[in-house]
Amino acid sequence: MLTLGIETSCDETGVALHCERRGLLAQALHSQVAMHERYGGVVPELASRDHIRRLLPLARQVLDDAGVALADVDAIAYTEGPGLAGALLVGAAVAQSLGYALRVPTIGVHHLEGHLLSPLLSADPPSFPFVALLVSGGHTQLLRVDGVGRYALLGESVDDAAGEAFDKSAKLLGLGYPGGPAIARLAESGTPGRFDLPRPKLHSDDLDFSFSGLKTAVATRIARGLPDAGARADLAAEVQAAIVDVLVAKSLAALRATGLGTLVIAGGVSANRRLRERLAEASARDGLRVHCPEPALCTDNGAMIAFAGSLRLRALRNAGAPLPAAGAFDVRPRWPLEALGAA
Ligand code: KG4
Ligand code: ZN
Repeated sequence: MLTLGIETSCDETGVALHCERRGLLAQALHSQVAMHERYGGVVPELASRDHIRRLLPLARQVLDDAGVALADVDAIAYTEGPGLAGALLVGAAVAQSLGYALRVPTIGVHHLEGHLLSPLLSADPPSFPFVALLVSGGHTQLLRVDGVGRYALLGESVDDAAGEAFDKSAKLLGLGYPGGPAIARLAESGTPGRFDLPRPKLHSDDLDFSFSGLKTAVATRIARGLPDAGARADLAAEVQAAIVDVLVAKSLAALRATGLGTLVIAGGVSANRRLRERLAEASARDGLRVHCPEPALCTDNGAMIAFAGSLRLRALRNAGAPLPAAGAFDVRPRWPLEALGAA
């Protein structure tokens, strides 16, 4: 089964072709970062309009790269939510129209399920069950994953997501958007520990996170004045260290609580190099398996949507259930992952 995946939930237009037998055949991505940069964040209306401009040319490119004709596509998968309503509608409308014209099954995918399952696309895929640390721009969650659609929430952020903490701290430091990569870059030349930032909930006995105090601490520190030229880099390094410390500690606590030995990281923040290094150290020390997919699979992309859609369709097919046909559709800007059923 050849599945065309379409991702338009936020500021990246992603398209990919996944083959059940041969794996990922081709993928293409257009990032809108340059367009939103001057506004310091994503402008939803501009995002929607750009998805309209990019989507069909990207789909054409992916088909050409894979040497596949549109008529060979067996199924369409697209991000149904969560995300920006207008941006989601572009992907959904194109996917449903293609699916209708080709008369192939067309399935809406949960964006976070895409992130969660994307490590299975990597060269050395993890096996179920595992603990997943899902860290994107809007979500920070620890989940126990027993199979496709079998997700138990172990803990989550009670306020800001880790990605949001990176993005808001970056803004306060006068860095561009998205903040995670910008902080990580500046942190390379800085030293953590010079400034003391809080590690909220580091020792709490639950598996929840809280990051909103971090941006307040960063704002307070900046308001007091940064003493010298190296101070911004030192503060960036401390922001990164504070977020990574908490993510690592809670992930290890989740492994202890579940008795599982495999940790999988997913979502944009999981591209962070320092986080990967720290988890690799922990895995060597404690004999744990830590799966860090290639950074390109961590951030938003079409491949994870094609893949998650293909797994869902296969499960329906195996169960003898009818496959979803293209037709009337809606998007779900807000859509809790726990609302998903097992495949
Ligand atoms: O998963 P994602 O690409 O989009 C969402 O679904 O939200 O995640 C975006 C988030 C942003 O907050 C961005 O700053 C963060 O991931 N991010 C990073 C890095 N690359 C992206 N954070 C820290 N270090 C990175 N290298
Ligand atoms: Zn995402």
